[in-house]
Amino acid sequence: MRLLFIGDIVGSVGRKALKTCLPKLKLKYNPTWIVVNGENAAAGRGITSAITREFYELGVQGITMGNHTWDQKDIFEFIDGDDRIVRPANYPAGTPGKGLTFVKTKDKELAIINLMGRTFLPPLDCPFAKADELVEAARKRTPYIFVDFHAEATSEKLAMGWHLDGRVSAVVGTHTHVQTHDERIFPQGTAYLTDVGMVGPRDGILGMERTAVLYKFMTQLPSRFVVDEGQWHFHAVCIDLNPTTGLGQKMQLIRMNEEDLLFE
Ligand SMILES: [Fe+2]
Ligand SMILES: [Fe+2]
Repeated sequence: MRLLFIGDIVGSVGRKALKTCLPKLKLKYNPTWIVVNGENAAAGRGITSAITREFYELGVQGITMGNHTWDQKDIFEFIDGDDRIVRPANYPAGTPGKGLTFVKTKDKELAIINLMGRTFLPPLDCPFAKADELVEAARKRTPYIFVDFHAEATSEKLAMGWHLDGRVSAVVGTHTHVQTHDERIFPQGTAYLTDVGMVGPRDGILGMERTAVLYKFMTQLPSRFVVDEGQWHFHAVCIDLNPTTGLGQKMQLIRMNEEDLLFE
């Protein structure tokens, strides 16, 4: 069993990169499931139903979100009716959408859980307690459980990895847009990576046009960020799962750009 998880797709450049790379990655890795983080897919902010359809047509089976979930008002129209998209589960009770879903390939079901950290991010409910609750529910149905922990602090992400070790297949971080190099299988069998990285403009700052970001850092004045253009880079992780236990067996980081492709 193999899961391909692709990091935050940023704007039209990120979507173009996904369209270019995914058919080839499918041939190379033959994943059982493909999941992407889509919180920045619509011009860097949120996602629309048209973009979700574009992703599903490419073969994506699940979409995770993050702090940008609500940036496009379109989301409120479709999130409750789409079983393939999850938003952070630790939003207050009654928030639209859900934080746990199940997607099926042949007869194998993958549980997808999305949670958000609370360090340098909005003060949501406790992600660790929420994880306990959802993991218990998911384990009744399938041993294959994937957690996208959308968080800023590396410490909070590591804490979640250890908290869930042995109870889920994988805990992979998103949100920082920078891939970390600390992939490992924890002692009880959970595959862990602090951050998978992004898919989108390579020469911006986390995907945004860099002069506006630099201006803000240097002047502390308000600055309007827009998604950068130009060449893309692409970050993902491929995780092999034990077919019986659902636990992690092997992890492979994927990192490429237009001049350095893994499939040519
Ligand atoms: Fe993001
Ligand atoms: Fe984020």
